[in-house]
Amino acid sequence: MDVDALETRLATTENIKFIYVIPDFQNPTGVSLSLARRKRIIELANEYDVLVLEDSPYRELRFEGEVLPTLASLDTEHRVIHLGSFSKILAPGVRLGWVSAAPEILDKLGLLKLAADTQSSTLNMTAVTRFLDTFDIDAHVSAMRGVYRAKRDLMVSTMTEHFPAEVTVTRPEGGLFTWVTFPEGFDTTAFMAEHALPEARVAYVPGESFFPTEHRSNYARFSYSGQSDDEMVDALTLLGAILNEHI
Ligand SMILES: Cc1ncc(COP(=O)(O)O)c(C=O)c1O
Repeated sequence: MDVDALETRLATTENIKFIYVIPDFQNPTGVSLSLARRKRIIELANEYDVLVLEDSPYRELRFEGEVLPTLASLDTEHRVIHLGSFSKILAPGVRLGWVSAAPEILDKLGLLKLAADTQSSTLNMTAVTRFLDTFDIDAHVSAMRGVYRAKRDLMVSTMTEHFPAEVTVTRPEGGLFTWVTFPEGFDTTAFMAEHALPEARVAYVPGESFFPTEHRSNYARFSYSGQSDDEMVDALTLLGAILNEHI
């Protein structure tokens, strides 16, 4: 997050209720917020008296670099609501998470959750509780970090080797995906429908949907979490050859 832009927005907009931020391995770029920016967000939240929603489902998946403090741990005025999720560390689709916040905020969130969907699935909650009672979640996450580090390395090195030189790739220090930038004017939505899917059987998330206010078509989010190593290398090598014909 650009904290100068945030300050300008806070200074010029009335009735802002909260700041939403994904500090760790942000979706979709995979990058993280520096310590200085984390501190600045807390200062600004205090100064302008707004809450902060810290959405951090990828935080546990750091496989490289220094662990940075949560915004919640830097907060001295109980204005940060911290969210985590089992969807990224236990099973995708379990759609069960946790929240830590001041008691009066938790009470309100409980009511809102009730109004929104009554409650999370009891079956999912029971299954996750059983897992936590029976197995060592920290050991599980620790093993996953090694798996994802190797997959990140493989995806980034295969793309760097086979994609056209004009295409750049982020090298995330954790999380599940990399953010790929294509040359200006390239349309990742059309390219996926016309070439990536039918010719290389590769799906990614076209970047367009991540820009709420402006039309930017030359980005894509690639996930390295699900495929086998061989599948990933074969598919990205083929995709690289196809890209070289079009860029
Ligand atoms: C930043 C962020 N927050 C929340 C979610 C959703 O988490 P859950 O599966 O717990 O609903 C996702 C992705 O699914 C995400 O990328």
